[in-house]
Amino acid sequence: MTTAAPAPDATSVRTVQPWWRDAVVYQVYLRSFADSDGDGVGDLPGLTARLDHLVRLGVDGIWLNPCYPSPGADHGYDVADYTTVDAQYGGLPAFETFLAEAHRHGLKVLMDVVPNHCSAEHPWFAEAVAAEPGSPARDRFVFRDGRGPHGELPPNNWMSVFGGPAWTRVADGQWYLHSFDSSQPDFDWRRPEVAEHFENVLRLWFDRGVDGFRIDVAHMLFKRDGLPDWPDPAAYNAYQQNQPEVHEIYRRWRALADAYDRDLTLVGEIHVPSVADLADYLRPDELPQAFYFDLLAQGWDASGFAASIDRGLAQIAGAGATITWTLANHDVHRTVSRYGLVERDPAALVIPTRQRGRIDTALGEARARAALLLLLGLPGSVYLYQGEELGLPEWLDLPDELRQDPTWFRSGRAEHGRDGCRIPLPWTTGSPAFGFSTTPETWLPQPDWFARYAAENQWAQPDSTLRLHAEALRVRRELRGALPDALDWLTTGRTDVLAYRRGRLTCVVVFGDEPFSVPGEWGSFVCASAEPHADGTMPGPSAAWLLG
Ligand code: GLC
Ligand code: MG
Repeated sequence: MTTAAPAPDATSVRTVQPWWRDAVVYQVYLRSFADSDGDGVGDLPGLTARLDHLVRLGVDGIWLNPCYPSPGADHGYDVADYTTVDAQYGGLPAFETFLAEAHRHGLKVLMDVVPNHCSAEHPWFAEAVAAEPGSPARDRFVFRDGRGPHGELPPNNWMSVFGGPAWTRVADGQWYLHSFDSSQPDFDWRRPEVAEHFENVLRLWFDRGVDGFRIDVAHMLFKRDGLPDWPDPAAYNAYQQNQPEVHEIYRRWRALADAYDRDLTLVGEIHVPSVADLADYLRPDELPQAFYFDLLAQGWDASGFAASIDRGLAQIAGAGATITWTLANHDVHRTVSRYGLVERDPAALVIPTRQRGRIDTALGEARARAALLLLLGLPGSVYLYQGEELGLPEWLDLPDELRQDPTWFRSGRAEHGRDGCRIPLPWTTGSPAFGFSTTPETWLPQPDWFARYAAENQWAQPDSTLRLHAEALRVRRELRGALPDALDWLTTGRTDVLAYRRGRLTCVVVFGDEPFSVPGEWGSFVCASAEPHADGTMPGPSAAWLLG
């Protein structure tokens, strides 16, 4: 006699680990992924048509940078309408097709929500500018009178993250706050209407079937009451961000997400002074996830990497939350160029993750490949930025007249900005646009040397960086659920070699150039970022996984 298995209910589903805890999510910078309609800008049908790349790579999900209607002053981070999809990306129908296709392949889909600010072209801001000072329409934003006898000076000394003052004046003399570009007015999160608007936005997209959100500058929503001057406006401004009131918002968002009968995630982009501050956002009733930028900020140095991993494990994993590791995104130089920087240009501005200078790309690629295995072996979830799987270097020499990042303009052309990591992907070696588009006129041009990194060729080469990614992700999948959350460091006898063990898996990373002889009892090689030498030693720099 057979009995039917009991139907799973919401409670039994929740006893399983949520998918996002150890998921590998691929970040799609849509404008630069694949263009289907020949306008030189990547779009949703282009992404849908190339989903096989991601399926073959073996990721679990996709995070889409903002694709809402936007004038594009900050390429989508200036949102004019949170409820639909920009026509240049294919509009809502193209999104729905993409979502269904991604789900059919078992891929989760995360949107990007931008709650700190909107576009100056959002109807609310247009209404605010047209309304009287002190009106409810203005109160949704941060409008203030200026200082000085005629109000001609900004209300306080705060700076925009992109450079220059954080205030812009409107025709009637009032000023509005923008923590980023002047086309990105900050909302006043002390207004219940603003909070309500974003809860509706989350529900709308969850109801459409998305699996989560990445939250743009999640730590910035609230500003210190009274907007006081900050002693050193060029340094981290503790009045402009990370205010205690923000945590209540994420408690509400978490409750909203948890009310659905499927596991949804919220991943904060949070830049705060310490890992302890970050852990506060990951309390059990707050955000499920937040990027661990502490590791991304480390230079190529074994002790710095180990100390950063330990900080995360002690303060985030130790507090019961999961760690969300990442080494790259659309705001920082690509790993090959960061780790391959052999001589820094002293004249260039020092933003630690966007240093300029002479790059040894072969060295950088060897180190980035090693870093990948280090990252994918760690307990927690991992975010990979598009193009990293191809080992793309930053395009540092993009001609200045073609730069588009508002950072470049607002810094008086001193800080080169982020265009160099946003170049359209090379799919083939052919023209036009290396398979990215049917036009050579792409929104940002591609350098000729992109041909060397074409995905099609890398799929055909067993030792390519792309194949290393696919192989590491395959092994990681096989081990899924079988490894403990904790890790132990092993003694390597060398300060430039790290080794950690999680259950059966041992990950060895040689940071320096000297070969390393792996003790036999650590297990046998299952994946390596570089071929071992004839004598069986690991070359430097490289990483390997062993199974015991
Ligand atoms: C975040 C985004 C960045 C954007 C900024 C303003 O840092 O990652 O690309 O420019 O917020 O929205
Ligand atoms: Mg297009």
